[in-house]
Amino acid sequence: TTIQWFPGHMTRARRQIQEKLKLIDIAIELLDARVPLSSRNPMIDDILMNKPRLVLLNKADLADPAVTREWIAYFAASGIEAVPIDAVTGEGVRSIPDRAKHALREKIEAQIRKGMNPRSVRALIVGIPNVGKSTLINRLAGKHVAATGDKPGVTKGQQWIKAGGDLELLDTPGILWPKFDDELVGYRLAAIGSISDLILHVEDVAFHALRSLSATYPQLLKQRYELEEVPAGEAEAHEIVDVMEKIGRKRGCLQSGGSVNLEKASMVVLRDLRGGKLGRISLERPVTVTEAKEARPTS
Ligand code: G4P
Repeated sequence: TTIQWFPGHMTRARRQIQEKLKLIDIAIELLDARVPLSSRNPMIDDILMNKPRLVLLNKADLADPAVTREWIAYFAASGIEAVPIDAVTGEGVRSIPDRAKHALREKIEAQIRKGMNPRSVRALIVGIPNVGKSTLINRLAGKHVAATGDKPGVTKGQQWIKAGGDLELLDTPGILWPKFDDELVGYRLAAIGSISDLILHVEDVAFHALRSLSATYPQLLKQRYELEEVPAGEAEAHEIVDVMEKIGRKRGCLQSGGSVNLEKASMVVLRDLRGGKLGRISLERPVTVTEAKEARPTS
């Protein structure tokens, strides 16, 4: 599903989430493990205010595990626990109730000290479209899918879903918009299939993806398309187009006259990337954090 976001929609989405914040103990922010920054709402801190938070790096099955570890460290540096998951297979999902409780441990311990009996932890899942919110809610609900019924303070029609391990979820997630002002964010989201192919030209999307892949995963590109070489580092545009043509030729993406149909070649690359056929790939790394660490004197 692609949502056309306009300022009015954003204001409404924000208000809807802020209404729900009153009902919950913790916000579960769902990001795409391959593009944790691009799949992040630019105003998320502002929207969630000081709600305790758990970050889930979903679709971790498609992401580069080494880079995912860097992201976990990146979030840990700002005091947020980030957990890689695969909402489709359920990998990592079972630990979520405990992680949520861990994030709230100070509050829960304070309740126990006061002699209160801590109730279930209540959570809201938030994220941009296509990041896997519905898939995760269904996974967490499992056989408990029967909602727990209306409770006081719950907006009419909203239901709590028992997610196991004393965790309750609001049945409708909070839908956030991505960052629009950075062109590269758009291309990355399109590359992973989170933005409709009707919005950005597939050739441009594939071009940006290939430029990134040739710099970060040259080996995977060479293997998949039996290429002898791919341009390293900051490649020139014509070098990337050259790679695209080679791929097109290998895959028989030709048009009358025998030249390569670049649109078809682009679709081949994007289908392979989205389906994990190239291997596990991350399109973003927490460079700033790594650089900062490297720049720090060791003694
Ligand atoms: P949303 O509610 O946040 O909008 O996302 P939704 O659950 O609908 O998931 C979007 C797509 O992402 C679905 O594919 C879903 O199967 C896939 N997906 C969700 N979580 C994971 C994951 O952990 N790993 C992988 N590999 N895929 C995941 P779909 O319905 O087939 O749509 P599409 O593939 O045509 O986009």
